[in-house]
Amino acid sequence: MAITAAEPTSVRSFGPGTALSCRECGQRYELTPKFACEFCFGPLEVAYDFGTVTREDIESGPNNIWRYRSLLPVPTNVAELPNMNPGLTPLVRADRLAAELGFDSLHVKDDSGNPTHSFKDRVVAIAVEAARTFGFTTLSCSSTGNLAGAVGAAAARAGFESCVFIPAGLEEAKVVMAAVYGGKVVAIDGNYDDVNRFCSELIGDPIGEGWGFVNVNLRPYYGEGSKTLAYEIAEQLGWRLPEQIVIPIASGSQLTKIDKGFQELIKLGLVEDRPYKIFGAQATGCSPVAKAWEEGHDVIQPVKPDTIAKSLAIGNPADGPYVLDIAKRTGGSVEHVGDDEVVDAIRLLARTEGVFAETAGGVTTGVLRKLVREGRIDTKAETVVLNTGDGLKTLNAVDAGVTATVKPSLAAFTAAGLA
Ligand SMILES: Cc1ncc(COP(=O)(O)O)c(C=O)c1O
Ligand SMILES: [Zn+2]
Repeated sequence: MAITAAEPTSVRSFGPGTALSCRECGQRYELTPKFACEFCFGPLEVAYDFGTVTREDIESGPNNIWRYRSLLPVPTNVAELPNMNPGLTPLVRADRLAAELGFDSLHVKDDSGNPTHSFKDRVVAIAVEAARTFGFTTLSCSSTGNLAGAVGAAAARAGFESCVFIPAGLEEAKVVMAAVYGGKVVAIDGNYDDVNRFCSELIGDPIGEGWGFVNVNLRPYYGEGSKTLAYEIAEQLGWRLPEQIVIPIASGSQLTKIDKGFQELIKLGLVEDRPYKIFGAQATGCSPVAKAWEEGHDVIQPVKPDTIAKSLAIGNPADGPYVLDIAKRTGGSVEHVGDDEVVDAIRLLARTEGVFAETAGGVTTGVLRKLVREGRIDTKAETVVLNTGDGLKTLNAVDAGVTATVKPSLAAFTAAGLA
């Protein structure tokens, strides 16, 4: 039901969240499992009434995303509820990578350490709280792989049934991870965009009654989880925004919400208002947003994905146009790199910083290197590059193995030229 802008909802289990607001026309709605505007079909997102939030409040909170609960649509006692409690992953000072690429100050935000080894635990953690509040009994999603694992685990912990949908042909590690928690894992014979269409049909059908699709009917809540990346990076830099950040794009939700998080920190006076540039990163084999950027379009032409970066393989990204706006507004850009460069960048990050990225991290690191090569990023500015997933999930992307196999003797070791 639509509500007027001034009228707060009576539902208070969303903490500072007061309403859903249409990104296009500003129409406001009660906090319900609604994701598109009735008037213009624009995406809905959570609007807030924050009150006073201090650095001290946040710093005295738990060592996970719930330290930011006063900035998220979750109940105030969220830390006591059964949840995977992701977050507070390392911001690695990447001096050796910086030296290799010529940066003065470079950090890797390494989200591979989350409970199911990708940033998706952040978004699911918020969606689970919404699902609980709305009384859903089954957690579901359309996924390029990582989200399926995060939903399976979160459902197990919080006592939901789960049924997740993935495109056929995903990496084995992601399928095993999605399935081990005991929920249903359904591979759809098609690509992610086919999976997503199928899920939208399910939601409209009685079969989908009681189902919370974290990235469809719960998307407004789910998206807010990505803001925690913005908060953590700022806090870990000593309550300062980075001057430049490189973010991977699948649907584009993570990128748009990191920008939302930075803006909130500025408005609340938690960080100094200084300019930052956001750079989006895609693999060439699925780069509809980068292509629109290159061609100066503000609409996205959908593509059929063909890349090893399967976690980013969304051919029709819902938030693509907003990504273009943000790149333009902040003075960044949207860039793409081919699969060979992705693999090379995975190796570069591993060799210089000991961080084993999944292909999505290869995409961001590859784009970072390309931007330096082409003189389109300021190597003097404080820069953060995201690694959003663990390389153990995409082992087949990298050809690496033992240096030699030798008999257990010094003579054999020496004879093999290893001494
Ligand atoms: C590892 C990883 N990084 C980044 C993304 C991008 O997410 P978004 O859809 O928010 O752009 C995904 C999406 O699945 C992912 O799995
Ligand atoms: Zn609208």
